[in-house]
Amino acid sequence: MENLSMNIRVVAEREEAPALRAVPLPSPTTQTVAIAGATGYAGAELVRLLARHPHAHVAAALSSETFSLDALLASEADVVFLATPNEVSADVAPELVARGKRVIDLSGAFRLGEPALYPSWYGFAHPHPELLADAVYGLTEWCNGELTRARLVANPGCYPTSVLLALRPITYLIDRAQPVIIDAKSGVTGAGKKSDLAYSFSELFGNFKAYGVGHHKHEPEIRQGLHLGDKTTLVFVPQLLPIARGIFTTMHVGFTNPVSADELRAAYAAAYAHAPLVRVKPQLPELKDVVNTPYADLGFTLLQGGRRAVIVAAIDNLLKGAASQAVQNFNRMCGFAETEGLL
Ligand SMILES: NC(=O)c1ccc[n+]([C@@H]2O[C@H](COP(=O)([O-])OP(=O)(O)OC[C@H]3O[C@@H](n4cnc5c(N)ncnc54)[C@H](OP(=O)(O)O)[C@@H]3O)[C@@H](O)[C@H]2O)c1
Repeated sequence: MENLSMNIRVVAEREEAPALRAVPLPSPTTQTVAIAGATGYAGAELVRLLARHPHAHVAAALSSETFSLDALLASEADVVFLATPNEVSADVAPELVARGKRVIDLSGAFRLGEPALYPSWYGFAHPHPELLADAVYGLTEWCNGELTRARLVANPGCYPTSVLLALRPITYLIDRAQPVIIDAKSGVTGAGKKSDLAYSFSELFGNFKAYGVGHHKHEPEIRQGLHLGDKTTLVFVPQLLPIARGIFTTMHVGFTNPVSADELRAAYAAAYAHAPLVRVKPQLPELKDVVNTPYADLGFTLLQGGRRAVIVAAIDNLLKGAASQAVQNFNRMCGFAETEGLL
């Protein structure tokens, strides 16, 4: 966390003596931002990105010890980023929205539209179910004007980001009578800062395992995002890679009618013609091309004469799967270029 504390110190110094250091005063388009959960893995990336963002002024970066609703309000932030646990976001976001703040929540607290899903998948009854319908699901490339008007943005989960970017352009081709199989691998930062034995070096190094099959929080988010309804079988197998960061998701789908490579390429080209951070590759993507970047890389291989496909998505879980997508959403909400502060 040494780099993070350096970042926070730099921000603090800028606040104290902007004139002496010739830091330009905020322009009318600058947005004051606050970050809760700034000492976590996702929050630290937010601090790094927003501290150098040309139109953001970081007024507060809070850990659990410095966190309070009053501290967030005292920052006079226009936009509050919550990189906090689900229950914390569920409690504090409505208070912030009620006081006129715009909120980008990186947790899962506002991602599901159906309140009844929270007890079974998240383990708590949602304290503010009335806000779920108002929250904008911030899969940036699939949002339009709703981000410009949004008061509360639910930033997508890391696995769902990889799956939805890959499958949404071709959902109309997928045969819903066949299972949609999602084999997804994540680096260990996906679990946040943890000191459990299961996340210790000796348990992870040289190891590789599946976890959460059938009960991972991201499963209903994927089902919702693909509009699969209750009938289509979704097989979601999250796995823990012995690396720090990156998500590599392999999806197996069957098509109602055989499709050609040209047809799939055209569907992706149409979906992402104006998406600077999604790259549709001629070959299957690799993690090394996306880790520490805000990009999502997609690729596919057709099988069985075009009746099936293997589609692969690669992202950085802490960036496109969390912080950089949150900044993309911030940019779109505030009318800045989508890649501002990211490339
Ligand atoms: N990691 C990922 O790849 C990823 C991807 C997408 C979304 N997310 C979501 O983003 C959020 C943060 O994830 P993370 O991985 O960065 O978690 P993390 O590394 O565990 O960090 C959690 C952050 O929240 C703070 N915090 C913990 N309890 C708090 C409380 N009761 N009140 C206020 N602040 C509290 C922590 O402060 P201290 O440092 O003081 O403990 C820390 O700054 C989670 O909701 C997670 O689901 C994570």
